[in-house]
Amino acid sequence: MSTAAAPQLVPLNADQHGLLARFAADADNSALLWASGYLAGMAQALTPTPLATAIAPAVAVQPATILYGSQTGNARRVAEALHASVQAAGLPARLVRADAYATRELANEKLLYLVVSTQGEGDPPDDAIGFTEFLHGKRAPRLPQLKYAVLGLGDSSYADFCGIARKLDARLAELGASRVQALGEADLDIDTVAAPWREQALGHARELLKPAPTAHLATVTPLRPQAATAWSHEKPFAAELLANQGITGREFKGTGFRQYGAIDKDVRHIELSLEGSGLAYEPGDALGIRHRNPDALVDAVLEATRLDGGIAVEHEGASLPLSRWLADKRELTRLSRPLLATLAERANASELAQLLEPGNSGLAALLNDHQLIDALRRWPAAWDAQALVAALRPQAQRLYSIASSRKRVGEEAHLTVDVLRYRAHGFDHLGAASGFLAGLEEGAQVPVYVEPNERFRVPADASRDILMIGPGTGVAPFRGFVQERAETGASGRNWLFFGAQHFNTGFLYQTEWQDALQKGELHRLDLAFSRDQVESSHKDVRAVSNGPRQKIYVQQRLREQGRDVYDWLQSGAHLYVCGAIGMGKDVHAALLDIVREHGDGDAEAAAEYLSSLQREGRYARDVY
Ligand SMILES: Cc1cc2nc3c(=O)[nH]c(=O)nc-3n(C[C@H](O)[C@H](O)[C@H](O)COP(=O)(O)OP(=O)(O)OC[C@H]3O[C@@H](n4cnc5c(N)ncnc54)[C@H](O)[C@@H]3O)c2cc1C
Ligand SMILES: NC(=O)c1ccc[n+]([C@@H]2O[C@H](COP(=O)([O-])OP(=O)(O)OC[C@H]3O[C@@H](n4cnc5c(N)ncnc54)[C@H](OP(=O)(O)O)[C@@H]3O)[C@@H](O)[C@H]2O)c1
Ligand SMILES: Cc1cc2nc3c(=O)[nH]c(=O)nc-3n(C[C@H](O)[C@H](O)[C@H](O)COP(=O)(O)O)c2cc1C
Repeated sequence: MSTAAAPQLVPLNADQHGLLARFAADADNSALLWASGYLAGMAQALTPTPLATAIAPAVAVQPATILYGSQTGNARRVAEALHASVQAAGLPARLVRADAYATRELANEKLLYLVVSTQGEGDPPDDAIGFTEFLHGKRAPRLPQLKYAVLGLGDSSYADFCGIARKLDARLAELGASRVQALGEADLDIDTVAAPWREQALGHARELLKPAPTAHLATVTPLRPQAATAWSHEKPFAAELLANQGITGREFKGTGFRQYGAIDKDVRHIELSLEGSGLAYEPGDALGIRHRNPDALVDAVLEATRLDGGIAVEHEGASLPLSRWLADKRELTRLSRPLLATLAERANASELAQLLEPGNSGLAALLNDHQLIDALRRWPAAWDAQALVAALRPQAQRLYSIASSRKRVGEEAHLTVDVLRYRAHGFDHLGAASGFLAGLEEGAQVPVYVEPNERFRVPADASRDILMIGPGTGVAPFRGFVQERAETGASGRNWLFFGAQHFNTGFLYQTEWQDALQKGELHRLDLAFSRDQVESSHKDVRAVSNGPRQKIYVQQRLREQGRDVYDWLQSGAHLYVCGAIGMGKDVHAALLDIVREHGDGDAEAAAEYLSSLQREGRYARDVY
């Protein structure tokens, strides 16, 4: 079985060639010169150093390899910093993204630093899927020659904290490699762990590597083009809210909270002005929001801890009233392990202490169905203001897929936000960021920044077809994709699979999709309404049919269209999946079945087919 290949006149595939041509057409002389140095540096850094080996014995100059796997750039930034400091020390090192790493080189590596985040539910970031599979597969070599160190990036509000880093660290040891320093496990305050880990790694590099010969030092360090602006999570841009519109059929009126599992949905279409920010995004990127915690939640935390919001608290060089710390600076909904450990100690709660013991599966449930306030109420403790601020971590970032193309909406960004609002443990709960957005009036200021996602882009070759699978708010980036492809006159076809609980209330952007079908901007639309019990059919839209109580999901529609899905892939289509993590896994399983059934291979060949699409950048997922 093989995937469709573009004719190759140069050693680039059609997408790469298109990208390069587009860049060269726009670039002025100095940009072209800069890029040629940049690309030469990249090539040299990625090439296993034949130049260096010719100058000195292999052992002496073989560079350390710094490998990273990163979804949103954090692990990449840490790896880049390590690379820069090793090079600044005059030592040879190369920086490689995990999916650009030729795994056959592993058997010859001498010193490997691996920086990797954990995604999904203990899954590798997309760019490290292949490396992770290789290392755990039958072809992984014995590695007695290898010295290594692993730094994991994660979030201790997830059950499987730094799970992938732990697995890779253990697996390298199992293959006979020698760990030169303990596994680092960085929580959201990344530098607390990453900075000392990097220092230690540099120390080992000094011991284990010989200085690079001058020729090697002269290599151009691969630079990343600078972001268009300096807005970030720490320094967001104040965007004006232009629209905040309920787009679920029966609009939520804000008079009550849905019970856990009840069907009321409140999805908002949000429009923000980026005017004056210089913020540039591409469809596929996400917008980070710095929310303000709701006043009612701040009051509830003060009540549960029996503290006065007016007390001044000095922390990390800033002095603010406790209520300001809680409203703007601290994470007030998602739990973290360090917070729970402090709570267990202060409340003398042996039950909680037990949950925190390694391997206790009860912790995952606690992290998933308790917000901070639930834990504070469940385990009352004596707090002082200073200790509370120190125990709570800084606000975690909330990302929302951008649902627009600048080519259509200009200096605006649109979002599709499902407002998390539910009743549990006897109280009403609101998602901090989605609740913040839902409560804003037109004209309000929203602190934002762009989080690029370079792996989730419309094909550079506009003649390629695309398949987009995005139930629920997973449809957001595909609104941007379809706008982008219409505005650029892309000749490839666009096929969308969308799902929601109900046709009447959950068909997000229904009229826009129907318009797009009529205008030829969208070519196929398949729908799956999971909780509709009656059969219905709509013009231009594939019929929706549910048996009693049987849920219909997008993957069923994919299976029904399996022959066409496979044909599209065979003729070079790009495939995108966006939405909930569980959906992404089930859709992947359906795709495996489709490839197995319609291709001529077995399960292993089908898995390799999808892996190769991922490697080629033709199968991208954005799941949360
Ligand atoms: C790359 C990316 C793109 C995203 N795109 C979108 C998008 O386009 N649209 C969108 O709506 N979201 C999107 N999200 C999700 C979004 O970032 C937030 O995670 C989501 O809005 C919830 O955040 P919140 O602050 O409102 O809730 P939080 O304040 O973070 O509350 C969540 C917490 O509430 C608890 N909880 C949640 N549900 C229940 C329940 N039923 N019962 C008991 N406890 C519960 C859990 O403890 C959970 O940790 C995306 C996420 C990522 C990573
Ligand atoms: N992090 C998580 O674990 C997680 C998971 C899901 C949602 N969420 C949050 O919940 C909010 C809304 O989620 P959403 O946008 O996905 O909308 P949604 O309305 O919850 O789901 C959209 C559609 O997908 C269906 N669905 C559920 N499980 C599926 C699966 N395994 N495979 C295929 N389809 C499946 C739903 O069916 P049914 O509801 O009828 O089963 C529904 O028809 C978002 O804020 C999101 O962040 C978080
Ligand atoms: C959808 C999603 C799922 C995540 N799952 C986990 C997880 O299972 N375990 C964990 O420790 N961290 C998890 N994280 C946290 C990330 O690992 C953390 O934010 C990290 O800093 C991201 O680094 P990166 O930008 O290099 O990918 C998750 C983050 C997101 C957005």
